[in-house]
This record gives sequence, C-alpha cells and structure tokens, in this order.
Amino acid sequence: MPVITEIEDLRRLHRRRVPRMFYDYVDVGAWTGSTYRANRADFGRILLRQRVARNIENRNLATTMLGQPVSMPLALAPVGLLGMQHPDGEICAARAALAAGVPFTLSTMSMCSIEDVARATGAPFWFQLYTLRDEEFLDSVLDRARRAGVSALVLTLDLTIQGQRHKDLKNRMTAPPRMTLPNLIDIAMHPRWALGMLRTRRRSFGNIVGHARGVTSLGDLMDWTSRQFDQRLDWARVEQIIRKWGGPVILKGINDPEDARRALDTGCAAILVSNHGGRQLDGAPSTIRALPLIRRAVGPDFPLYLDSGIQSGQEALKAIASGANGVFIGRAFTYGLGAMGQKGVETALTILRREMDITMALCGVNDIRNFGPECLWPGD
Ligand code: FNR
Repeated sequence: MPVITEIEDLRRLHRRRVPRMFYDYVDVGAWTGSTYRANRADFGRILLRQRVARNIENRNLATTMLGQPVSMPLALAPVGLLGMQHPDGEICAARAALAAGVPFTLSTMSMCSIEDVARATGAPFWFQLYTLRDEEFLDSVLDRARRAGVSALVLTLDLTIQGQRHKDLKNRMTAPPRMTLPNLIDIAMHPRWALGMLRTRRRSFGNIVGHARGVTSLGDLMDWTSRQFDQRLDWARVEQIIRKWGGPVILKGINDPEDARRALDTGCAAILVSNHGGRQLDGAPSTIRALPLIRRAVGPDFPLYLDSGIQSGQEALKAIASGANGVFIGRAFTYGLGAMGQKGVETALTILRREMDITMALCGVNDIRNFGPECLWPGD
C-alpha cells in the first residue's frame, strides 16, 4: 500500500484498482482535452502572497454554503456512475461527506437511488438534475427528492447534448456499460472489484429504472436517456423547473458572464461556475479564468461556486480569492472512491482540508471568511 499524501496518489491507486473503462470514464476530457488541461494549468498561473508575522495560531475553515454550515467551503459535485467505481459508491461518498461536514450532491445518473442514499445517511443531501423532456419523470423525481429530504437542487445546464470523449467511445463506455470481450477481460483482471460488484445489490440506475415510463430494464435505459436531453432548453424552461422545485436551486454549468447575469433573474439561489470538468465544450476557457468576469457580472454578494480542475487546497483557495464563495470537487473525490471506497473519499477530504489550512496560514490568514483577492499576488 503506497503512502498517500496527495490526490495524485489516490488517482494512481484508482487506476490500478478499477477496470480501465471505468477509470477512463473519470479521467478524460472532451475531444483534444484542451479545456480539461487548462482547468488545472490556469491555476498554476495564479500566485498566492506569502505573508509573515500575522499570528495564525487559531484558524477557522468553517463557513456556510447555501446557508448551511460546512466545515470548509467545499462540496462533492454530482458524478454519474459512482456505483461502478466502488460497490455502493454513492452511499460511500455521501457518508464520507457527512462525516467531513461537507455537502454531497447525488447525480441523476447514479447507481444507488435517492431513497437508498437517504436511508443510508439519514441526513439531507443535494440532488443534481438534468433538464429532461419527460415531464412525468421530472415531476416524480422532484417529488421523490422532496420526500427523501433533499435540501437543494443542482440543475445542470451544460449538457443538453453530450460532448464527445474519444476514450469512452473506444471503450464502448455507455450507460449501462457494454460488456464487449475486451471489457469482460479487463473486468476479469480486477477480481476484487468484480466480487465487490457482485455482492452489491444496487446496480440498477435506481433514480431512473423502474421510475421513468417504459424503463423497466437496463436495456431500456440507453434509449430513454438519449431521448431525454432537452435541446429546446431556454431560460423560460429553467425558470419553470426552479418554480416546480420551490426550494433552493444552484444553476450548474455557467461559464460566461452574460449567462451568469441572465441567471440572476431566474430566482436561483446560487451559480456553480463549471465547464463540466472539461467534458463538454473543448476550447472553452477554464473556469478559474472565467470566474473574475463572472463575479463582476453578478456583483459582490451573489453566491458563486466554482468547479473544474480543483485537486488541491491551494487551488480551492485560489478560486475563493478570485471570487468564489466555495468550490465543488468531482475527480478529486472520485479517485479516492475508486482507490479505497468510503475511506478513500475521507482521505481525499482530509488531504484537501489540510492543504487549505496550511496554505491559508502561510498566506497569513486565520479565517477562511477573510481569504480575499488581497491574498493573490498583484497583477494575477
Ligand atoms: C461528472 N460531472 C457531472 N455533472 C453533472 O451535473 N451530472 C453528472 O452526472 C456528472 N457526471 C460526471 C461524471 C464524471 C466521471 C465526472 C468526472 C464529472 C461533472 C461534475 O459534476 C463536475 O462539474 C466536474 O467533475 C468538476 O471537475 P473536476 O473537479 O472533476 O475537475
């Protein structure tokens, strides 16, 4: 077992422990991967100010996100198919988030259902929804989310058509995954993973199969899913879904100042600046590059979160100093899940927390709520 000190260690372990098609599904961007790479590289161009002699003995990372107390300004982003990275993956991740005092967001495209997660954690969580065409399904899933105690809806706007990822196509990685001969051989080479999957009872896209009209088997799922992405989506529809839900909504997938400005009129509670981790529009700017312009467009007080590219506490702090009120992580916790299940997600969160704490201290700040633009090297 390698010594784990950084998220990169979890990524390497994830790659070894999970069949290649499932690992590749996580660690890939759309087309040439230029936005995927820029999401991380652009953080490297931002410099933090090293400050000394400022008494940093008592430090605080706790704050609020959407009015909810959090132990640090970080949430788990919705990631589909977590249940294929580790048995009961969604439950493992939700439990790790709960233990760490940060929000968990369940993806619509999960193996475990809303009810499974609610039962296993006994605590409120956030639920991510795609803007789907099937109105009956939409109504019923919102109803189920309400009954399960979901406290906020994360409405994803940047996937009305799916970006192309070469590796996934070559691996025949679909939902449900196609069991081709190479995929079966790959699975046979990961017996521990395969045994774990056999033991788990939740393998059935529990938010959709058995709930959407005409989807009674995994075989029906592909057809249904391909018909669902609503390419007619416009702001009126976004507003309609926000009204239907009636509770707080985070609009996810905004990466442009004009869209952010328009989003303010929808009644959303917050915006999550995101390019889907570079999985959708290759060639779009990194979110950390877009963030200052978006902050200017929405004004100083509107809740703004950022994801895409965050794999260290320094990157989280650079986002916060550049105008985000908090960050979401996708791959950083998924690597932990694939590597070691719940323990791996807990390890990822511990690593990020430690990095945020030490970095904040070395910048001469002892409260995350005071970590602002003055912590960045001027001109960056
Ligand atoms: C995602 N993302 C995503 N977003 C969403 O709204 N619904 C989903 O089901 C998924 N599924 C998904 C699967 C995988 C494997 C990844 C890596 C990402 C996007 C996700 O919520 C988030 O925006 C990005 O992961 C953020 O980038 P980083 O942190 O992974 O760099």
